[in-house]
Amino acid sequence: MIEETLALAAPHDVQWGPFVCGDPQIEAKLQEEVRAAQRGLRALYEMRSGAELIAVFTLHVGTLQAGHGVLAALSPEAPLSIPSLHLPVIAVRTGHQGTGLGTRLMDFIMTLARNQAPNLGIKTLSLESTPTSDAFYTRLGFERSSQIWSDGSRARWLVLR
Ligand SMILES: CC(C)(COP(=O)(O)OP(=O)(O)OC[C@H]1O[C@@H](n2cnc3c(N)ncnc32)[C@H](O)[C@@H]1OP(=O)(O)O)[C@@H](O)C(=O)NCCC(=O)NCCS
Repeated sequence: MIEETLALAAPHDVQWGPFVCGDPQIEAKLQEEVRAAQRGLRALYEMRSGAELIAVFTLHVGTLQAGHGVLAALSPEAPLSIPSLHLPVIAVRTGHQGTGLGTRLMDFIMTLARNQAPNLGIKTLSLESTPTSDAFYTRLGFERSSQIWSDGSRARWLVLR
């Protein structure tokens, strides 16, 4: 059996070669995220099956800008700026998609966010969904903004309770 591992990457050592997930915009964003990780601005995680890189995601603590009523109630002193763990990008390699890996990784990230909420002072886990990943995040319980950007993406968040 090939062992799967999930670990924080050492960003200065990242030499992945092509990582294809079927969405060129996400692939380009991932390259930006690696550079941000190299500047210490992101935690970069990689999942491998044996030596093969099969999934990646990045995390950082930031704020969610939102005027949503539920969110405003969470942070009455600053209703438009909600402390949040942000997931800028998650991607599963083509050929491994649709096998439950993304769901497992999201379970890991949601548990991490809930467990770390008291330490980090975060109220939500936030991300931006693409048109093709929209249903994926709805199923996981993420609320969504009614505002859709020109590329079809929109803000999503999970309130951490
Ligand atoms: C979105 C993504 C992370 C989900 O990971 P995954 O391992 O394919 O997800 P799972 O197998 O756990 O769940 C698959 C579900 O996700 C949805 N999905 C979204 N994009 C998909 C894709 N390209 N291939 C397969 N399923 C996809 C389907 O609705 C599917 O639902 P179903 O089980 O009812 O058919 C992955 O498909 C991916 O990397 N896509 C390209 C990059 C991207 O869109 N990233 C998210 C935006 S940051």
